Order: sequence, then structure tokens, then C-alpha cells
Amino acid sequence: MLTLNPKDLDARVFYSYLTGTVAPRPIAFVSSIDKAGNVNLSPFSFFNIMGINPPLLVFAPNNRGRDGSKKDTTLNISEVHEVVINMVDFAMVQQMSLASVEYPRGTNEFVKAGFTPEPSLLVTPPRVKESPAQFECKVLEVREIGTMNLYICQIIMAHFSEHIIGENGKIDQRKTDWVARLGADWYAHISEGAMFEVEKPNTKIGIGYDAIPESIRLSKILTGNHLGQLGNIEALPTKEEVLAFRQTPLLKDIFDQVMNGCAYLENLLHDEAQRLLAQNKVKEAWLVLLQSQNDFLKDD
Ligand SMILES: Cc1cc2nc3c(=O)[nH]c(=O)nc-3n(C[C@H](O)[C@H](O)[C@H](O)COP(=O)(O)O)c2cc1C
Repeated sequence: MLTLNPKDLDARVFYSYLTGTVAPRPIAFVSSIDKAGNVNLSPFSFFNIMGINPPLLVFAPNNRGRDGSKKDTTLNISEVHEVVINMVDFAMVQQMSLASVEYPRGTNEFVKAGFTPEPSLLVTPPRVKESPAQFECKVLEVREIGTMNLYICQIIMAHFSEHIIGENGKIDQRKTDWVARLGADWYAHISEGAMFEVEKPNTKIGIGYDAIPESIRLSKILTGNHLGQLGNIEALPTKEEVLAFRQTPLLKDIFDQVMNGCAYLENLLHDEAQRLLAQNKVKEAWLVLLQSQNDFLKDD
């Protein structure tokens, strides 16, 4: 373990450890405007959703490392307390990166990076037409902490491209194609192939990791992810269910292999459970695993 106290390191060096580990981070592509009407567009990955009611987004431009001066976004918000936060998908990533160049104050990055400004409904800065999700926000608060300007923004209007909406009128995650920021020059492309579902545990009370019999918990085949799935079951199958499952062709085959001395029962059962868990068949995995739990199968 590399253990670091931020006090012992230059802030920029510690920052590289942070950006490489607090990742992936979504990217706020922020359009802002000054009192004279000059528009600015810049990406910020110190960003997230921080409230539901009211809906809040938070992002944080640092002051420039070079001379400590405030970035154009910060200066604009000090004049006009409104922004549009546009989300960034894969089709936009290179142009978004181009917009992060430190052009002189007053430069319109919509023009420099080739994005299309679309008038907002309730705020003065324009939206990025190419972005699949655009949030018109009023800036509620700024907290200046060290070199950081942390903005708390309330969403007062939101726009979502029909390309990411599913049949139920909600966002269909499989239709989105977001990018996110990692450390150094790395990004993540969060397309359908990179996504997976984890059943929400809060709809039921799982038995928990500690209730899993020790020989299963200490398995050399099952991983922490498998044990997390197993611990999420509300109740173990009954002894009758386990014994009835022994008659299935799958288990007959396993028991035959063991009778012929081909393999060790527990390993075969754990291998099979692993396959079932990969298909999210948690109860079946338990029915397999409990076949070798003599304590469990003993007559009361
Ligand atoms: C993907 C990405 C994320 C960024 N995140 C941040 C950030 O969270 N905070 C920050 O100060 N700068 C961040 N930057 C750098 C700013 O975008 C850059 O300094 C920009 O020039 C600021 O523009 P402005 O002076 O027009 O506001 C990021 C750049 C990129 C490409």
C-alpha cells in the first residue's frame, strides 16, 4: 500500500493520484456568459449531481496553476449567475477537448471548437446543440476553498435528446454513449458493451456475507462478487428444495463424476455455481452449493 499524506506532497502531484483514482468522472461542458454577452464554453470534470429536490449540480473550476488567475468561466459567473451544463458523449469528445484550450478571455469556444449554440429557455448562456443532455441552471452559491471555486447550481430546465429516451419516456441507459474523465490523458467510453446491471439490494434484506457457510465463503473458486450475490438472497432454499434439486440431470452428472473418482465434489459444485451466478441465477447457485453442506442437509 502506498500511503500518502497530502501535506507532504506538492498539490499538483497529489492531484495526479486523485484524478487517477476518483474516476471515471462525468464531464460538465459549461457554457457561461459575461455582462457584455460574450459566451464561453469549457469542460470541467470536478463535477457531479448533488441534490434531487431541488435538483442540484456541482462543479469546480480551479484557478490557473500558472499564475493563480481565475478562469473565464469563474469570471463570467461572477457577472452573470447562470450556466448551462451540457453532458458530453463520444461523438463530441475531441471537440470538447479542443474547447479546453486556454484561449484569451472573450474567445467564444463554440466557434473555436465548432459547436452549435442553441438559445436556452430560461437562462442567458446558450446550450450546446450537439449535447444529448443539457441543463439550464441558476448558480445558487459559490464556495471558494483554496484555489478552487465550487459552484452549486440548481437545474431550472432540462433538455434530453430523443435518441437517449426509451419507450417508457425515461433515459434508456443502453442508448447513451457517455465519456468520462480518468487520470492523465485517459478517458472512459461508457457504451453498452461496458455496462452491466447489479440488482438493487435495498428492495429486500439479504442474509449477508456473514451468513454464508464458511466452506463457501472460503472457496478458492468463488470471488467476492459471487459472495456478494449469494449474500443478497433473502432466505436460503429449504432442505427439501435442495434434496429435490439433486435429482436434476445437471447434479446427477456432477455426482456421477465424483462417484467415478474424477473430481472433488466441492470444486465441481463451486464451478457450477459460478456459471449460474454469471447468469444471475442466485437461487439455483445456492441449490447447487448446498449439496455439499452436510450440516444443512442433516435431519433435525
Ligand atoms: C475533460 C476535461 C476536464 C477538465 N476538468 C477541469 C476541472 O474540473 N477543473 C478545472 O479547473 N479545469 C478543468 N479542465 C481544464 C479547463 O477546461 C481549462 O482550464 C479551460 O481552459 C478553462 O476554460 P475557461 O478559462 O474558458 O473557463 C478540464 C479539461 C478537460 C479537457
